[in-house]
Amino acid sequence: MLNTPITRRVLTRAAVASTALSYSRILGANEKVNFGLIGAGGRGKGVMGTFQKTNRINVTSVCDVYDARIDQAQTQAPGAKGYKEHRKLLESKDVDVVLIATPDHWHTGVAIDALNAGKDVYVEKPLTLKIEEGPLIVKAARINNRICQVGMQQRSGQHYLQAKREYFDTGKLGKITLARTWWHGNGAHLQKAPPALATKPSNLDWGRFLGPIKWRDWDPQQFWNFRAYLDYGGGQVTDLFTHWIDVVHMMMGQDNPISAVASGGVYHYKDGRTAPDTINVLLEYPKEWTATFEATLAPGITGAGVEICGTEGRLHITRGQFDFYSKERGAPPITVKSPRDQTIDHVENFLDCVISRKLPNGDVYIGHRSAAASHLGNIAYVQKRRLKYDPDREEILPL
Ligand SMILES: NC(=O)c1ccc[n+]([C@@H]2O[C@H](COP(=O)([O-])OP(=O)(O)OC[C@H]3O[C@@H](n4cnc5c(N)ncnc54)[C@H](O)[C@@H]3O)[C@@H](O)[C@H]2O)c1
Repeated sequence: MLNTPITRRVLTRAAVASTALSYSRILGANEKVNFGLIGAGGRGKGVMGTFQKTNRINVTSVCDVYDARIDQAQTQAPGAKGYKEHRKLLESKDVDVVLIATPDHWHTGVAIDALNAGKDVYVEKPLTLKIEEGPLIVKAARINNRICQVGMQQRSGQHYLQAKREYFDTGKLGKITLARTWWHGNGAHLQKAPPALATKPSNLDWGRFLGPIKWRDWDPQQFWNFRAYLDYGGGQVTDLFTHWIDVVHMMMGQDNPISAVASGGVYHYKDGRTAPDTINVLLEYPKEWTATFEATLAPGITGAGVEICGTEGRLHITRGQFDFYSKERGAPPITVKSPRDQTIDHVENFLDCVISRKLPNGDVYIGHRSAAASHLGNIAYVQKRRLKYDPDREEILPL
């Protein structure tokens, strides 16, 4: 697939077909949207709570492979039906939209099933586990005429949008040459499974958790902290850099890296993980600028941010605020704080688009391109070589 031009790939309806019958209803502007959750872990319950706060949805259904998580989600959404298999939930006519917050290795399969079943979809980032999955989800969304928002909430964040309008659309930073990003010490990658999970709970379907990936016996750590294993996700690069490279793509109005190099390893946490605990990625873009990502889980360093550097100044942006530093030495920065958590704006934008049928801020194609840029970093890391990439044809070029 990697070496097949995107224009020649056979992405027909059959290529993305599921067995679920397609059903969707046209929603009125003030009508409540029937909502289903697939993947009721930390993020799933959190974002479901954000949807609930909008007062624009009814949670009708929740799904997880682990009954304890279904119970927790039903406590949060009394009356919701519980499912262990996502396709059973998708067969229900009581579901208009789904939130997919499973681990990454299930995103593509569940999203394509949901789109084929006629549901609008909010799917958590990273959109995909592998670079070649992106075009399939985009195609499923377009063929089925469905709204598909990817959980890269910065796209709807007020201070991100303001920074874009005031500093990038106006060219105030001059010629931009470097976008520097970093995310150190992210605790989600260091979670330890509780001792109670040493033996697999009888109400947890391990085979269904593994789903499309190769069978292995119960491993509580892989269930609890899938992020540390490259079979389930892309480590810090697709978990964290996907957010930041998406911010860079948004500000620069470009999403087309032409080369990637990366280096790192499991240098400190020799606990069986396969995802590097320390990683550096460097992408090159055709309009003469580079983007870098640096992340380590080394104890003692934390913090996350993006800094975009131009000849007239630099813009530093985090989830909390942005600061503009002009090129004049000693000039005080201009600071704008974020008014609120970005997820609420992203969820509202999704629900608006479910009614208007316009493309959402974090549309599936945008999600695919930012996931793809991150995957290039991981492929360069695994293959230990500089990759050359054709972003128009979406092909890794031969050496
Ligand atoms: N946008 C953000 O800022 C943000 C923040 C955190 C997590 N996330 C994303 O959300 C996703 C979930 O992360 P998390 O921290 O909630 O993980 P988690 O382990 O807490 O939850 C995942 C849940 O999915 C369930 N699950 C696994 N396979 C399933 C299947 N086939 N059907 C139904 N349920 C299934 C698991 O049992 C578990 O309850 C990840 O892709 C992560 O990258 C995004």
